[in-house]
Amino acid sequence: MDTERVALGIPEVRQAPTGSGRPRLGGAETGLLDQFGRVATDMRLSLTDKCNLRCTYCMPEAGLEWLKKDKLLTAAEIVRLVGLGVNRLGVRELRLTGGEPLVRADLVEIIAALRANHPELPISLTTNGVGLTKKAQALADAGLTRLNVSMDTLHHDAFLQLTRRPFLDQVKAGIEAASAAGMTPIKINAVLLRGINDAHAAELLQWSLDRGYELRFIEQMPLDADHGWTRDGMITAAEIRELLTADFDLSADPRARDGAPAERFEVRHRGATELLGTVGIIASVTEPFCADCRRTRITAEGKVMSCLFSRTEVDLLELLRAGDSASDDDAVAARWQDAMWAKPKAHGMGHPGLGDADFVQPDRSMSAIGG
Ligand code: 5AD
Ligand code: SF4
Repeated sequence: MDTERVALGIPEVRQAPTGSGRPRLGGAETGLLDQFGRVATDMRLSLTDKCNLRCTYCMPEAGLEWLKKDKLLTAAEIVRLVGLGVNRLGVRELRLTGGEPLVRADLVEIIAALRANHPELPISLTTNGVGLTKKAQALADAGLTRLNVSMDTLHHDAFLQLTRRPFLDQVKAGIEAASAAGMTPIKINAVLLRGINDAHAAELLQWSLDRGYELRFIEQMPLDADHGWTRDGMITAAEIRELLTADFDLSADPRARDGAPAERFEVRHRGATELLGTVGIIASVTEPFCADCRRTRITAEGKVMSCLFSRTEVDLLELLRAGDSASDDDAVAARWQDAMWAKPKAHGMGHPGLGDADFVQPDRSMSAIGG
């Protein structure tokens, strides 16, 4: 039976619920525990649903209907939520996402306030890099250390086709500015689309290695607003490894994966011994890592999504706006815990025994969840 459990990638329940629902032992003891025994310590917080690119695997050409300003978490609400997460619910790592977080005018202030409250907390930002040149130094000064920039190709025509905007040079300059501002590590995220940028994978890897950036390829997930994803159309992790091995030798990175979504490989030129760096491959579809997932997501309008593919959302904004006494904090923390307790076991794609038929694409696109 044990082998089967491993094959299914489903964790054992470490702690049986007392009665029905989640065990009520108080925040610090159980943190963000789910009914399959996973504990979320990695908080992904979306700062906005807006974006200045229109990546085909995410947004429709015309954009989406943006949230009204009064529906967005304010800077103070963000600081309060992160405080609850870190001080009471066991959050150990924070990633700020979007939409495009750089479009938020108060981004630097938010990071400075979070840094003042949590001097040791790893805070990272996922950005498309547009407008980063101007903000990189201020972000670093405010206490941001880690950065993920999405850049799928170094070719202008393919960039335009993928993002529907001609901003490749801006993005490259933004990455360089972040590096000059001392941000490290800098990770580059790339999604490969067949016939558009798949042939550029090795070149993007060489470019990243030359500059000391860690490139990560992400399998395209069915999170596009146009619902255009197909299993046959997506480039799989196995194909990505094959695309790279024409130029490079990849060997498993001996460092522990430790719940990270990316499988890391050491990279060398073919037949050479010199280690050039590493590359990550995030096989969310073909080799899902749900059993080890440590993420809790909050959308820009303050809803908990226990999983990227979750079809249930639990609103915290209403409770946050009910008041800021200790008992209001208790209520927010308890609702957050309840939402995570119900985290699904797995997303239904690529899991043996859970066919694609069990998978229903969520209504939200990536930009409206937070990557
Ligand atoms: N599949 C995979 N990755 C996606 N991203 C956006 N939409 C998708 C999708 N459908 C990526 C972005 C960014 C990260 C937050 O998620 O490229 O790097
Ligand atoms: Fe914007 Fe990121 Fe979506 Fe592209 S993937 S449209 S950069 S939110």
